[in-house]
Amino acid sequence: MREKVLVVGGAGYIGSHVTDALLRRGFKVAVFDNLSSGSIQNLCSDAEFFWGDLRDEARVQQVFEGFRPTVVMHFAAKKAAGESMIRPELYADHNIIGSIYLLNAMVQFGVKTIIFSSSAAVYGNPQYLPMDESHPLQPVNFYGFTKKAIEDLLDWYFRLHGIRYAALRYFNAAGVDVAGKLLGFESNPANLVPLIMQVYRGQRPFLEVYGNDYDTPDGSCLRDYVHVTDLSEAHLAAMEYLMAKGTPLIANLGTENAYSVLQVVEALEKLTGQVLPVRIVGRREGDPPALYAACGYAESLINWSPRYSDLETILSSSLEASKRWPNR
Ligand SMILES: NC(=O)c1ccc[n+]([C@@H]2O[C@H](COP(=O)([O-])OP(=O)(O)OC[C@H]3O[C@@H](n4cnc5c(N)ncnc54)[C@H](O)[C@@H]3O)[C@@H](O)[C@H]2O)c1
Repeated sequence: MREKVLVVGGAGYIGSHVTDALLRRGFKVAVFDNLSSGSIQNLCSDAEFFWGDLRDEARVQQVFEGFRPTVVMHFAAKKAAGESMIRPELYADHNIIGSIYLLNAMVQFGVKTIIFSSSAAVYGNPQYLPMDESHPLQPVNFYGFTKKAIEDLLDWYFRLHGIRYAALRYFNAAGVDVAGKLLGFESNPANLVPLIMQVYRGQRPFLEVYGNDYDTPDGSCLRDYVHVTDLSEAHLAAMEYLMAKGTPLIANLGTENAYSVLQVVEALEKLTGQVLPVRIVGRREGDPPALYAACGYAESLINWSPRYSDLETILSSSLEASKRWPNR
C-alpha cells in the first residue's frame, strides 16, 4: 500500500520541501497548516490542503477524519529561541500542546508512524564537538525544552501505543530546493541565510552579526548548515526505516562542518560581486561559539549523508529562489 502522508506545517520552509519530495515519489500528501509563519506561496498544488491550527483539537480530528493518513510528518512549531524565553506559554501551547493533540489523534485513528522535526537545541551548550546523539540533553532555551519534551512524549506513545517515531535533530537548515522549483519563502525569517538574502535584495539595510569576539578563527559564531534538499531526502529515508524496522530513530541531521557567520557573508560577496552591509552588534545570550553535528548515526542507520550542503550550493540556491520571493 502507498502511504498517505499528513504533513503538519507543510506550508513552511522545510515542510514544503518535504511535501514536494513526497509528491515526486508518488505518495498521497495532505498539508495541515495555520499559515502563521508558513505561506500560501509554499503550498504544493498536488497536495490537499487543510487550513487549521494544531491547538484546535476538534479540527485536528476533522483533518484525520477527512484525509485518513497512514504517516504523519510534524513540522509545525514556533521556532525562535530568543522569543521562547520571553513568551514560553506560546511555545508550550503551539509546540507541546499541539503535539499532544496530534499524537492523540494518531492513537484515535490508528496511525502508527510519525517523523518529528527536532532540533540541535535539545542539546544546549556543547560539552564536546562534534555533538553526537549521546550528548547530554540540557536545553538552554525554552524552545529547546519544548523539542525535548516532545521527544519524551514520542517515546512514551511508542511504548504505550506502539507509535513508531523518528526524531530528526536538524542543525541549521539552509538553502532552497536545488531543482529551482520551490520558493522556500519565510515571511519573517530569523535564520542567517534568508536574512542575508533580504539584505542583498535591499529589504533590510544591513545584517546584524551578533559578536565578533568569540574564540573562533574570525571571532564570529560557527554553525553547521544543512541544505533543505538534503533534509528532505533524510525524511524519506527515515520513513522507509520506520516502515522496515518499527523501532524509534533519533538522529542528527547536519554536516560535521561549520562555517562562521562572516565566512557565509564573504561567500555571498564572492558569489555576487557585491559588498553586503554588515553591522557588528553585541553577543546574544545563550549563543555558543561553535555548534556542529556528528552525523555517523544517520549515515549508518538510514544511509544518509548530505550532498548539497556546501556553502556555494546553499547560497546560490537561495539567491535563485529569492528572485521569486514576494516583496515583503
Ligand atoms: N529552520 C531550521 O533551521 C530548523 C532547525 C531545527 C529545527 N527546526 C524545526 O523544523 C520545523 C520546521 O521549521 P521551518 O524552518 O520550516 O519553520 P516554518 O516556520 O517555516 O514552518 C512551520 C510551519 O508550521 C506552521 N504552524 C506553526 N504553528 C502551527 C500550529 N499551531 N498549527 C498549524 N500550523 C502551524 C506554520 O504556519 C509554518 O507553515 C520546526 O518544528 C522547527 O522547530 C527548524
